[in-house]
Amino acid sequence: MEKNLTWWKNALVYQIYPLSFKDSNDDGIGDIQGIISKLEYLKDYGVDVIWLSPVYQSPMDDNGYDISNYKEVNPLFGTSEDLELLIQNVHRLGMKIIMDLVVNHTSDMHPWFLDAKSNKNSKYRDYYIWKDKPEPMIHSIFSGPAWTYDNTTNQYYFHLFSKRQPDLNWQNPKLREEIYEMINWWLDKGIDGFRMDVIELIGKDIDSGKLGDGPHLEKYLHEMNERCFKGRDIMNVGEMGGISVKRAQELTSNPNLGLHMTFQFSHLGIDEIEGKGKWALKDYEPIKLKEILSNNNNIFKNGGWNALFLSNHDQPRQISRFGDEKNRIRSGQMLFTMLYLQRGTPYVYMGEEIGMTGIKFNHIEQYKDIETINYYHEAIKKGIPEKEVMQSIYKKGRDNSRTPFQWNDKKYAGFSNHKPWLEVNPNYHEVNLENDLKNPNGMYHYTKKLFQIRKKLSVFVDGDFEVLFKECKNTFIYLRKNTKTQVLVITNMTNSTITKDLSRFKKFKMILGNDQLKLNEQTILNPYHASVFVKEEENDN
Ligand code: GLC
Ligand code: CA
Repeated sequence: MEKNLTWWKNALVYQIYPLSFKDSNDDGIGDIQGIISKLEYLKDYGVDVIWLSPVYQSPMDDNGYDISNYKEVNPLFGTSEDLELLIQNVHRLGMKIIMDLVVNHTSDMHPWFLDAKSNKNSKYRDYYIWKDKPEPMIHSIFSGPAWTYDNTTNQYYFHLFSKRQPDLNWQNPKLREEIYEMINWWLDKGIDGFRMDVIELIGKDIDSGKLGDGPHLEKYLHEMNERCFKGRDIMNVGEMGGISVKRAQELTSNPNLGLHMTFQFSHLGIDEIEGKGKWALKDYEPIKLKEILSNNNNIFKNGGWNALFLSNHDQPRQISRFGDEKNRIRSGQMLFTMLYLQRGTPYVYMGEEIGMTGIKFNHIEQYKDIETINYYHEAIKKGIPEKEVMQSIYKKGRDNSRTPFQWNDKKYAGFSNHKPWLEVNPNYHEVNLENDLKNPNGMYHYTKKLFQIRKKLSVFVDGDFEVLFKECKNTFIYLRKNTKTQVLVITNMTNSTITKDLSRFKKFKMILGNDQLKLNEQTILNPYHASVFVKEEENDN
């Protein structure tokens, strides 16, 4: 078979958050052997690429996004041999694996930082960012100032995340060379690319306040591509929360940057009050999501490539956010259908394929996420009533998606025989894989079929995208079309019953749906209806 250099356009990517996927040795913490034991499950679902969140050595201040050794495996998760075994087994099953590349910052326990802060003449001093005064004033993404005073050397160091995650100084060429060496070391081990954590931040210029998509970004990406990625058959997805879709399109269509697609966050601000940050809640309106996603599809028509996602380890569960827990399965099926037949590569966060939902713990002590805990204390100090603070945490806290995977209805949901590091969602008696597999109309079987359809028809990669009933507040109905095939995707994003004239599609054949549907003048779409219709041009087949 001819080598298809853009295989990643047609791939299904599945994200694993190692702490919470499967515990193999009953210490309450998910691990690499646990993942290995579930690879057949992933293969069977149709996964092509696994994105593994960080398993590197780390004090776990930010659950592994604070790395103290880039080449060692965190003993919580296993050994380097376990990881090699994982890579081998993934490949044996014909899948690929990408790993998290966290190079905007390290842990404060990284030997570079320990040395850098021990004295001003350290040869690693300039691997980080130091100032005599905490200026300019910049707020850390995890609350509080982005400058922390170090009393050994009487200077402040810069950190956009927790104070235990000092930012690396990308303007130092020596630092950049060390990073490139490390990247090549991993690629030579046979991994298939990277999910690049907050990668837009490496180009920042602090003095001018340009943090996201800073003035040096393209230069460094280009250099990284030259040194590491060029000529390798891999895929890279860059996390770029602050960039516009237009910019994402621009960056991913430049082959010299080694960036195959990005996670851009255009759709993630729709339930927050603009400019007030993620915790300031606003009601979610489906039409807003439809407008934004439609616009994304139009922009990527001109080249570049998008990553399709609604949830991940930083975002709440999608059913709880954009669907309806009372119509859990139907609304979950609707979200998959609505999103994953659009232009871009589908990313499924673990547990979404069985319709897991968010949590509402009573006490802040039950939460483990540093962002959530910092926010709680800052907000309480500001005088925001606790009830209100908890409402924000219920809606947006990152632990919503970090609870252990619900495999079955046994104690701890089959994740472990030991009390897990973060409590299991109490709904595991009902919501679990074993249960869902028994239901032919459940999440698993429906969404598995959806991805089979997606892979079979090239129209999802190269076809046009056209929204029908653009103004309609309830539905998201669109047509994908190339010379061979037309696909009509019908979803009702709301709890109301809607009637639409779909008679012009009478000849289309239904290939998937959560209700039987006849396309005519008065097509009735039940709450959270989802279906897929196809018309193949006669001269093909
Ligand atoms: C990314 C990660 C998030 C982490 C942050 C800092 O946004 O997805 O989990 O806290 O970067 O590394
Ligand atoms: Ca374990």
